[in-house]
Amino acid sequence: MDPAQFTPNFGYKADGREGAQSVFAEGVSLERIAAQTGTPAYVYSRASIESAYRTLDRALAPLPHTLCYAMKANSNLSVLRVLAKLGSSFDIVSGGEFDRLRRIGVPGNRIVFSGVGKTRDEIRQALRYPGDRSGGAAKKSRGGILLFNVESEPELEVLLEESEGHVAAGGEPPALAIRVNPDVTAGGHPHISTGEHHHKFGIDWGPARRLYLAHKDSRWIRWRGISAHIGSQILSVAPYKRAVTRLASYVRDLARNGVRLDHLDIGGGLGIRYTDEAPLVTAEYAKALIEAVRPLGCRLLVEPGRAIVGSAGVLLTRVIYVKENRSKTFVIVDAAMNDLIRPVLYDATHPITPATRAASSGAAAKRVDVVGPVCESGDFLARDWPLAPVQPGDLLVVWAAGAYSFAQSSNYNARRRPVEVLVEGNKYRVARKRQSYDDLVRGED
Ligand code: LLP
Repeated sequence: MDPAQFTPNFGYKADGREGAQSVFAEGVSLERIAAQTGTPAYVYSRASIESAYRTLDRALAPLPHTLCYAMKANSNLSVLRVLAKLGSSFDIVSGGEFDRLRRIGVPGNRIVFSGVGKTRDEIRQALRYPGDRSGGAAKKSRGGILLFNVESEPELEVLLEESEGHVAAGGEPPALAIRVNPDVTAGGHPHISTGEHHHKFGIDWGPARRLYLAHKDSRWIRWRGISAHIGSQILSVAPYKRAVTRLASYVRDLARNGVRLDHLDIGGGLGIRYTDEAPLVTAEYAKALIEAVRPLGCRLLVEPGRAIVGSAGVLLTRVIYVKENRSKTFVIVDAAMNDLIRPVLYDATHPITPATRAASSGAAAKRVDVVGPVCESGDFLARDWPLAPVQPGDLLVVWAAGAYSFAQSSNYNARRRPVEVLVEGNKYRVARKRQSYDDLVRGED
């Protein structure tokens, strides 16, 4: 397997040594980055992020649409800035994510707030947030965010209470959608499928309908949309068709009953190629959504995370030791489950290859476990993975690690979270420093 073949903007180039070739991200050698920043290191390609965004944006162009990048996948400020510059909107799920957008100046009219547990404070923070900063003082700033995706009746009650105060003080009533649970099976691992009736997300259609109708003339809120998110790493269009058809029928039903919605948010979930999966075809996905949404006259919102950043990143790690135990070979590397938890948490496979291949390397790959230094048997990056012979000091590339990778890293075993690097053409820069040991004890008595 050669992931360089299906990972845009990453590929092998001659690296100066006698016939050897190394992996480059755009114009920069990963060996060079690792030598200068140390390992483990996450490396992202700006061109990859941009092309993933543009491909999806173009596919949806026949319909009024808004691409709301699900920043939980990768919330590095430099990555967010790249997307903000492209005109992306954002899907957030916490006050912390909100704060990151505030820091880079994203206006509220480009923010959708999802999540089952928005606190009162977070709701207040979102209500007061300036909706549009572009007009300056001359243009009356429309308050608030593009959409709250409400996930329960108790949450709606808090929103109503807070909005009442907000509107009484001269604010705009906020735009709301209900995240409905469309009861559609989709997604990779059980931990990342979300749209079935037994999941905690969304509200069933019956109760959701009742809430729409009960508050249709509210002075404190405006029903503007309906939303769903059915799962993640979805590789076929069929579940999207089922979900969007259901949502479209709900929009019609509400319109007949006096509730006119103008936003349909279908969530994220588009799958990518990690190993030999056939990824979802963007054009087919777009066609299914466009056909269902166009007759409604609604604006389509999509919330992709993985599909924007997943293939745009790799994790670099160095071999510390190679160890043979009975029939097994363990390649012990300096990245661990705290840096990349997806393999043990979701049974995910991230291909791993040496960063450099010698011209003469005819040596056959051997099945090995690539493991980290953390004291847990679950600390592996790959198991029974075919890897060319490696030695201590060799650099390895863990592919398709741009989404939910650094974002889910931790300090377990008092390990520092790795450096993040953004490549832009022939240059790269540190987008986030490796943590120091001082960072690790900050705030402790
Ligand atoms: N919108 C909502 C409301 C979500 O909950 C999610 C992801 C997304 C959008 C973006 O989904 P995406 O396009 O990235 O599939 N940590 C797991 C994935 C968890 C996804 C959670 N929700 C993983 O590493 O596979």
